[in-house]
Amino acid sequence: MEENITKWNGFPGVFQSEGQLATCNLNPGEHVYGEKLVEDRGREYRLWNPRRSKLAAAILNGLEIFPFHDSSKILYLGASTGTTPSHISDIVSDGLIYSVESSPRMMRKLVDLSQIRSNLIPILDDASKPRNYLHLVEKVDIIYADVAQPNQTDIFMDNMRLFIKEGGQGFLMIKARSIDVTRDPDEIYKKEESRLKAAGFRVLEKIDLEPYEKDHMAFVCEISF
Ligand SMILES: C[S@@+](CC[C@H](N)C(=O)[O-])C[C@H]1O[C@@H](n2cnc3c(N)ncnc32)[C@H](O)[C@@H]1O
Repeated sequence: MEENITKWNGFPGVFQSEGQLATCNLNPGEHVYGEKLVEDRGREYRLWNPRRSKLAAAILNGLEIFPFHDSSKILYLGASTGTTPSHISDIVSDGLIYSVESSPRMMRKLVDLSQIRSNLIPILDDASKPRNYLHLVEKVDIIYADVAQPNQTDIFMDNMRLFIKEGGQGFLMIKARSIDVTRDPDEIYKKEESRLKAAGFRVLEKIDLEPYEKDHMAFVCEISF
């Protein structure tokens, strides 16, 4: 289908078609999660669904810090079957995405995806034990954490301390209900933010992911080196 594609907000590798986000398909003709493929001037793009990807939701909700570019190196925690990693893979076409996932069932699909996307490196491991993959992962420009676990902030901080380059940024997707289903999400975000600050992290940006994801907040952070 032919569409008019334009760049999104100066973000490298992020495009839009009538307000819908898209990335340029590294594997023309191939879908990853049933997303729509569109063409413009001989290039194929994959529409990026904000209800399936928290990074797309954050972008549509006004994210300003976007350090991803064609040669970025990323450590991705909670890669699942590769929905968001696949769009990041389109963006960082000459970079690498070390993609950690603890579920063997999800990992099978991720391995299939890595066979057609050479910048995606699947790692079957527990992100709460980052020393397990210290020998596999180099220092990275960006850490993206979306593990939806009660200890998600600790997992993020431990991986940042081991793997982030000086000046690199971390994206932490906080799911309030994974921390405590009974507490007000705003209280949870405040507590997690104060824990990050007390541990020496600077919170650069916070983006609520409603209406695409209920009770989720994206935090963009740096370590004070
Ligand atoms: C919300 S899903 C991730 C969705 C994915 N980030 C995306 O946008 O396409 C959370 C994933 O984290 C994985 N996970 C949970 N705990 C983990 C851990 N300790 N280490 C690695 N992966 C974990 C789950 O198996 C699940 O696939």
